[in-house]
Amino acid sequence: MYIRGSLLGLAFLALPWATAGENTARASKGPDKNGKYWIYGDGIEAAFIPYGASISNLLINDQYGIRRDIVAGFDNASYYGIDKAHPHFGGVPGRYANRIRNSSFVIDGETHHVTPNDNPTSESPDGADTLHGGSDGWDYRNFTVVAYTKHSITFSLVDPDGKEGFPGEVVSYVTYTLTGRDWDIKMVALATTKKTPIMLSSHVYWNLDGFSNNETSSIYNHTLHMPYGGQRVGVDNILIPTGEILPNKKGSVNDFWSKPKQIGAQADDPELVNNCGFNCTGYDNCYTVNRGHLGSYDWRTEGPVAQLSSDWSGIQIDVFSDQDAFQVYSCAQQDGSMALKKTQGLFDEPDFPRVIPRYGCVVLEVQDYIDGINHPEWMRDRKQIFTPGGDPYVLQAKYSFSLKGSSKS
Ligand SMILES: *[C@@H]1O[C@H](CO)[C@@H](O)[C@H](O)[C@H]1NC(C)=O
Ligand SMILES: *[C@@H]1O[C@H](CO)[C@@H](O)[C@H](O)[C@H]1NC(C)=O
Ligand SMILES: *[C@@H]1O[C@H](CO)[C@@H](O)[C@H](O)[C@H]1NC(C)=O
Ligand SMILES: *[C@@H]1O[C@H](CO)[C@@H](O)[C@H](O)[C@H]1NC(C)=O
Ligand SMILES: *[C@@H]1O[C@H](CO)[C@@H](O)[C@H](O)[C@H]1NC(C)=O
Ligand SMILES: *[C@@H]1O[C@H](CO)[C@@H](O)[C@H](O)[C@H]1NC(C)=O
Repeated sequence: MYIRGSLLGLAFLALPWATAGENTARASKGPDKNGKYWIYGDGIEAAFIPYGASISNLLINDQYGIRRDIVAGFDNASYYGIDKAHPHFGGVPGRYANRIRNSSFVIDGETHHVTPNDNPTSESPDGADTLHGGSDGWDYRNFTVVAYTKHSITFSLVDPDGKEGFPGEVVSYVTYTLTGRDWDIKMVALATTKKTPIMLSSHVYWNLDGFSNNETSSIYNHTLHMPYGGQRVGVDNILIPTGEILPNKKGSVNDFWSKPKQIGAQADDPELVNNCGFNCTGYDNCYTVNRGHLGSYDWRTEGPVAQLSSDWSGIQIDVFSDQDAFQVYSCAQQDGSMALKKTQGLFDEPDFPRVIPRYGCVVLEVQDYIDGINHPEWMRDRKQIFTPGGDPYVLQAKYSFSLKGSSKS
């Protein structure tokens, strides 16, 4: 009886993907030979891996009908943990995305210290601050696949009490779904034992030309519009928020709100020097998403908070999100040492080696105000500090793909 019971239990667990008759053989079997889990929409398909619950491929036809893989990543799941540079390709940074000043924060009068891993100095050889949840943050760990169908995959991670210095256990679920030409993201996380900060994001490196543009390998000709991004979080020269919320004055390098603009349009403006930290020319900034004037709004239809497009491929993304901030990073730290995947890039073109060059990609991160836990004056606590039994952390986003100028279907 016992054995029979467990077999029935297993059959029940298998149900989500065993019942849908339309599922491909691949989806019913699990990952492909490279350890990737594929899901399918209408004219788009994407692959995900347990490591960091990361997206590793996103395929879509460009305006000439050529299939393009528009996200950076590696050819196989096992390489993600081997690669030393760890650029957070396509994963979920956690338990707290972006930087934590001085690797510490205070909750209810108690100071918590988390693992430093960013900006090493002689006094702090491991780092002056914590980036993306520490040296073994969520996107260094294999999530568990808890559901998988032809159109959707759900990952789960249990982050133990004290891991990387964070208080209490956190249980999380990350669901990715392809519906038509939309990629939907839902992240839920619960503090189960102690009050703790939680802030997640999706850290995807985009190149809407599939790294195959034969005129330029940079994203300087990608057009960006952030209609609600009138302000940004002020940072010091190691990108730690100072507490100031700065205006993105019309016409300034950080003005992407007043009208759409190519990312490289002001590449030679002196104002862009150090805009992404010490000796860094470009963007690595947290723009606020100011929608207060809309009154009550539906984040799925009101927006997008950001629109990115490339004239060369014609591919466009409209990003919708329920989050109040949006980070843009223009890949100034890429230096040509990261190889492209087999599914992207040009072959045998000496001018276009098969690597990601500086400014060869752009990272778009839906998130909350960075380091809000060290800036109580911003009043982000309800969005960033979670209590057992209280509301869960929730992040929702929709990336809607289309060809520029064509009507959406
Ligand atoms: C896995 O991918 C990496 C980088 O994309 C590549 O260097 C390596 O050869 C691949 N390994 C296998 C077994 O395919
Ligand atoms: C994570 O999964 C990959 C394969 O997807 C595997 O190669 C690696 O050993 C796993 N890492 C850990 C820490 O379990
Ligand atoms: C940073 O944290 C250390 C303890 O880890 C503390 O001694 C120091 O005062 C803090 N510095 C600042 C500027 O808060
Ligand atoms: C560049 O790529 C486009 C689109 O794939 C193609 O039509 C064109 O012939 C290519 N040009 C050169 C010089 O290879
Ligand atoms: C591409 O961007 C560069 C500057 O970054 C600009 O000079 C050039 O005109 C742009 N090309 C197109 C076709 O928009
Ligand atoms: C500034 O960055 C450039 C690369 O962009 C590098 O060659 C140079 O050494 C850096 N200078 C300093 C002072 O770090």
